[in-house]
Amino acid sequence: MKIKDSKIYFEDVAAEELAKTYGTPLYVYEANRIRDNYRRLQKAFQTRWPQFKIYYAVKSNTNPAIIRLLMEEGAGCDCASANEIRLATKLGAKGEEILFSGNNLNEEDFAEGAKAKALFNLDDLSLLDRLLKHGKPEVLSFRVNPAIGKSNVHDSDVMAGKQAKFGIPWEKAEEAYAKAVDAGIKRFGVHMMTGSCVTEPDYFAEITTKLLDCVGPIAKSLNIKFEFIDIGGGFGIPYTPDEKPLDIEKTATLVTKVFKEKVAQYQLGEPQLVVEPGRYLVGDAGFVIGRVHAIKESYKKFVGTDIGMNILARPVLYGAYHGIFVDKKSEARNPKSEIVTITGQACENADAWAKDRELPKIEVGDLIVVENAGAYGYVMSYPYNGRLRAAEVLVDQGKHKLIRRRETFEDWLGLTI
Ligand code: LLP
Repeated sequence: MKIKDSKIYFEDVAAEELAKTYGTPLYVYEANRIRDNYRRLQKAFQTRWPQFKIYYAVKSNTNPAIIRLLMEEGAGCDCASANEIRLATKLGAKGEEILFSGNNLNEEDFAEGAKAKALFNLDDLSLLDRLLKHGKPEVLSFRVNPAIGKSNVHDSDVMAGKQAKFGIPWEKAEEAYAKAVDAGIKRFGVHMMTGSCVTEPDYFAEITTKLLDCVGPIAKSLNIKFEFIDIGGGFGIPYTPDEKPLDIEKTATLVTKVFKEKVAQYQLGEPQLVVEPGRYLVGDAGFVIGRVHAIKESYKKFVGTDIGMNILARPVLYGAYHGIFVDKKSEARNPKSEIVTITGQACENADAWAKDRELPKIEVGDLIVVENAGAYGYVMSYPYNGRLRAAEVLVDQGKHKLIRRRETFEDWLGLTI
């Protein structure tokens, strides 16, 4: 996104043109930003450890156009359910290009994962027998809980440690791999995912050390080889104005340094270093454009827009902050600002999702743009109060195209019997 003469543009396409063409609320993604994010991450790690692979966590944004774009860059797909595996398969991902890191799997998940020959990151030892009913996998990985977790956004994004529902406690990991060896499995990997939206490089080195200190001794005692070591996603982006971006070069330097040391210490050979980011790749490439429909002077001033908790759930669900810009006004030469609360259209008080923000003077008809909505944005939207899901548009090299049409009354009602 850029602002020129107060107008907001995505690459070179004006927010106003998109709103006129497709209506609001509207999700907009910048293809070049996604490519840049992917290439920056890939380069930072690959130059330091060539056996490096990115699996895109498709849960963060499941639009096929976005997944395809990342697959074209070379990404595999990290999936969380049978349907995400079906989607990745439909887009051409095969076998070891698909990681399956789901939680609390059902029989359909096992069947679909086995059919796709996906790499399972099993979340518990108790799941092994259920997986084996679908045949012996070529390669197997367990999700290990290294007992440390972190998030800069909110507690529910802390995914390891004693309160986390994910993974096998690291002390029990050896038992899990021993059972897999007994079952005749010969090729192994290991996975962890400790938290989402972390912007401190040191943290990634710390968890990598912990994971390797866990699997190193297991490789020796069970005489097995880990073909890949997956340190999960979690690479953060700044949401608030005072947060700093994650220094990816520094992160890669620190992670690969401990990785090399530990791989040598435990004689692990040359395992592939795997990451499975979502937010880092697509988060800052996505925006929501909304229209201001009403302004209300109550005990405080409310700006009523068509972006609500149903369209972008993160602020109300997690108390997450998203920057807001006003088309034709968000620039220094529009200094007239006031304190307002931005609301959606849902009949819930919680739907006042950006409280007491200082913004340029907003009028009915203005367009607002919400940033950092590319990850966990559209995928977490829902049709509440009959306010249906938005459309999605991809801007690429100055051209824009609809990549998901707006939900209609017929779509909404079509599911009922
Ligand atoms: N791998 C696994 C197994 C995961 O569970 C996740 C995210 C990722 C990778 C990608 O994590 P990322 O690189 O995006 O941090 N809805 C929350 C975030 C939930 C993250 C869920 N798992 C939010 O909006 O902040």
